[in-house]
Amino acid sequence: MVESQAPRIRTKAKHDVLRITAMIQVKQERSHLPTAEHSALIDLDRALPSGAVVTDPDVCAAYARDESEAEPRLPDAVVRARSTEDVVAVMRVATRHRVPVTPRAAGTGRSGGAVPTEGGWVLAFERFDAIDEVSTRDAVAVVRPGAVLGDVHAAVEAEGLFYPPDPNSWASCTIGGNVAENAGGPRAFKYGVTRDWVLGLEVVLADGRVLNVGRRTTKGVTGYDLTALVVGSEGTLALVTRATLGLMPRPEVVRTLAVHLEDEAAMADAVSACLRARVTPRCVEVMDSITLGLLREAGVPVPAGSRAMLIVEVDGETDAADRDLERVGNALLDEGTLEVLVAKHEGDREQLWSARREMSRSLRTLAVNKLSEDVVVPRSALAALLGRCRAISERRGVRMPAYGHAGDGNLHVNFLWDTPDEKPSVDLAIRDLFEATVQLGGTLSGEHGIGALKAPYLALEQSSDLIAVQRSIKATLDPLSILNPGKIFPRAGHGGC
Ligand code: LAC
Ligand code: ZN
Repeated sequence: MVESQAPRIRTKAKHDVLRITAMIQVKQERSHLPTAEHSALIDLDRALPSGAVVTDPDVCAAYARDESEAEPRLPDAVVRARSTEDVVAVMRVATRHRVPVTPRAAGTGRSGGAVPTEGGWVLAFERFDAIDEVSTRDAVAVVRPGAVLGDVHAAVEAEGLFYPPDPNSWASCTIGGNVAENAGGPRAFKYGVTRDWVLGLEVVLADGRVLNVGRRTTKGVTGYDLTALVVGSEGTLALVTRATLGLMPRPEVVRTLAVHLEDEAAMADAVSACLRARVTPRCVEVMDSITLGLLREAGVPVPAGSRAMLIVEVDGETDAADRDLERVGNALLDEGTLEVLVAKHEGDREQLWSARREMSRSLRTLAVNKLSEDVVVPRSALAALLGRCRAISERRGVRMPAYGHAGDGNLHVNFLWDTPDEKPSVDLAIRDLFEATVQLGGTLSGEHGIGALKAPYLALEQSSDLIAVQRSIKATLDPLSILNPGKIFPRAGHGGC
């Protein structure tokens, strides 16, 4: 009926007819919802462009989980925003009806940050993905939250520039998620993490107000640094609708070493050897004996007798990078490593990195269940952390392969188990790991965020006063607690205060 009338009605009238059709669909699909949720959905649909609000449970199911082990939950609706105005409209309606809103970028998160644990709506940014500008003169890029990191890398590198943050999911993760989680990645060792590269943000607050925080300039100290506060706040304080990113000249070349060790405990000494060479590699990645086996299965040549491996990369201007490679390689040989191999061709390097990037997914093939943590300790405590992991694994009878960003003291410690009766031991082993990390002067999360999964453990690391101050910041910006509730802070009775 709508189609047959379409040629005769004016655009606005046609739009209205479509909207009424959509509202009827909302009613039909969500007729089980209580009246309040139902009327909130009708207001939401009215406030957004046609087609932006989706309530079809089959579509919503894709937004119930992220790449973590957090319990999935079906949202009442998904809104696919395409503009700041859309985000403002969602938050105004959400405030009016007190509906929880869970922001979602690409859903590649590892701590349950994008799972709508308290129901309500998922605000999806995947279609709000423009790269507005790459300025070679100012060395900045201005991008929208749904822009895929790999596309941002390509756009700036085409101009001879470089945006260093490189979480391993760069081919699919987006800037909005990177900013929300303060994402890191292998290159963080030399270049730092997302927060070090975000100059300014446009954000939407829980009540729909729009703020521009930060700057486009290298320097800028006016007022509190709300940009730094929003970066890493896991979508609990404000929603990012535009990010101004700092850039640097693209390094001319990258040189790669694969360093094999006879024994896992030698990895901390090998990291120290890299630093003694007076070179800052752009990354120092590590794989323990189990994860090394996965690399071997992926076709990476691994010498017999190797029990652990480092990937060390240096970059820069060609002569300098070659000199640094030689210095680091010699320092590692002096340290008594088993073998130091230079990746001679781009193909060798790509094979190594594609196997490394897939490590988290490959580990899933080793057991029915996998949980992955991303603890960090001061670099000097890396050997002690590994020792503690091995002791916990033995005491609790849980397989705990580890790999990660050794240069940063940041280990992805994984917990593998097959049957539900093993889960209580896994939970004890996770708590043991967090306690050991804090005792060694470390922190619970280096790059994946606290999200839903680590919230019960926050008080292991932070004092009740510190948690209370953070809660009061949250209450100032989001007094109704509708922005990504259930994340970061422990619930009462769950290790909370
Ligand atoms: C990695 C992700 C899991 O380093 O952070 O592979
Ligand atoms: Zn990582």
